[in-house]
Amino acid sequence: MTPPQAEPAVELRGITKRFPGTLANDSVDLTVSAGEIHALMGENGAGKSTLMSVLYGMERPDAGTIRVDGREVSFAGPAGAMAAGLGMVHQNFKLFDSLTVAENVVYAAEPRRFGLVDRAAARRRVRELAEEHGLAVDPDARVGDLPVGLRQRVEILKLLHRGARTLILDEPTAVLTPAEADALFAVLKSLAAQGRTVILVTHKLREVLEGSDRVTVLRDGRVVARLVTAETTADEIAAAMTGRAVELDRVHAPGTPGDVVLDLTGLATDGVRDLELAVRAGEIVGIAGVAGNGQSELVEALAGLRPVTAGRVALRGRDITHASATERRAHGLAYVPEDRHAVGTAPAASVADNLAMGHHRTSLSSRGLLSPAAVRAHARRLVERFGIKAATEEVPASALSGGNLQKLLIGRELAHEAPLLLVEQPTRGVDIGAVQNIHDQLIAYRDAGHAVLLVSAELSEIRGLADRVLVMYEGRITATYQKDEADERSLGLAMAGGGTAPVEAVD
Ligand SMILES: Nc1ncnc2c1ncn2[C@@H]1O[C@H](COP(=O)(O)OP(=O)(O)OP(=O)(O)O)[C@@H](O)[C@H]1O
Ligand SMILES: [Mg+2]
Repeated sequence: MTPPQAEPAVELRGITKRFPGTLANDSVDLTVSAGEIHALMGENGAGKSTLMSVLYGMERPDAGTIRVDGREVSFAGPAGAMAAGLGMVHQNFKLFDSLTVAENVVYAAEPRRFGLVDRAAARRRVRELAEEHGLAVDPDARVGDLPVGLRQRVEILKLLHRGARTLILDEPTAVLTPAEADALFAVLKSLAAQGRTVILVTHKLREVLEGSDRVTVLRDGRVVARLVTAETTADEIAAAMTGRAVELDRVHAPGTPGDVVLDLTGLATDGVRDLELAVRAGEIVGIAGVAGNGQSELVEALAGLRPVTAGRVALRGRDITHASATERRAHGLAYVPEDRHAVGTAPAASVADNLAMGHHRTSLSSRGLLSPAAVRAHARRLVERFGIKAATEEVPASALSGGNLQKLLIGRELAHEAPLLLVEQPTRGVDIGAVQNIHDQLIAYRDAGHAVLLVSAELSEIRGLADRVLVMYEGRITATYQKDEADERSLGLAMAGGGTAPVEAVD
């Protein structure tokens, strides 16, 4: 006799969800067993976040059923999903920066004593949970002061405090350093070993291969593959996602540097000092470093969003140290910010209008007025070139999936053909096929004679694209490498603050 099979933790049957002009989920079946780490993969716009929003009660499906622990459910909102034992960590964390870790974890589910919030009990509870799950974090720290990896721990602790048995994580490692991502996977594995269930949305094949038990692949809203991780390969998953073979980790030829385009001497801004750097036409200079070592501050200062406190910035020979952001753009600077939501795009404006932003003084306009026909044609060209998936060019940017919004931002800035491109995290949240496309476009941009300053947390991206690699540590450049010298080991060492000169690789 076979033992009775445990009920699946989550069972979705025939889930269909339509948005105007888009069938985001098309009769999707997904079964997630209790105690497994289940990866959900697919190209940008394949319907992953929509499916998770349906499961978590944030979107109502047009058809289909949801079972949690064998019981059919129908959620009017996330509160119902939480009560059924589901918990979701959103890409943009929903924590209160001014409250402490303990206050955030117990928020709206506080331990009480005589009707009052029992702070000592809250702190104790956080310590217990942290201890039990290997999620070390100081209960008294202010959340606003924590690095992103620790904030994510707080989000997970919050779900565990509420008794979540199934955790849904939508691209949890997109904003983490490799070390933080490894720590997260150690936690997820221990949660699964205790019988909790994890549903993980990610674009990173390595994570899926090392960290998951099974994989479901979506394409155009439908399930196209169900794979057992131990029996599959990166190539097989990539092919299922895209419907074709994908060449992973392509090697690019080096550039031919010309005149200096960006010249920094003794530059200082918040958390950055004594920076000397020249970026030439036809060259990509990559800045590697653990987040929080001054890279973002440097880029913001160059973009004109943060004051320069000492030193000089020259762009094509002109001093722009104290120029406004608009003046810099007019003098030949394009900028892809790290935060595509807050700085990069206007959510309520259409895809076409977002793509036209900053192009008012170009071929899209006559006498300062944008021509609607030119704006449409411009949008169509970029949608095609960058594979932006949108129902039409007229839908608001807020209707785009995360990765497609990123493609929009990159496309718009590259279209300026500016002599200098500042680009931060160009492929964050973008699927593997689109990563290759964006990399090819950056190389083509360089080869057309433009200068590129690239900041990325992805070492493989820096190593693949940059002609020179600089490491930033505690606000200074502590190491410089030519393209071929930048092996992963010595870069990793320099990023951790060890070694101030290129280290010989020992294999
Ligand atoms: N609120 C909305 N209104 C209109 N269309 C939407 C809305 N939300 C999502 N869509 C569309 O539904 C499709 C699926 O989007 P979804 O966000 O689920 O994709 P995804 O697989 O999570 O992609 P990514 O990897 O880029 O995050 C996309 O074509 C998207 O444009
Ligand atoms: Mg998504």
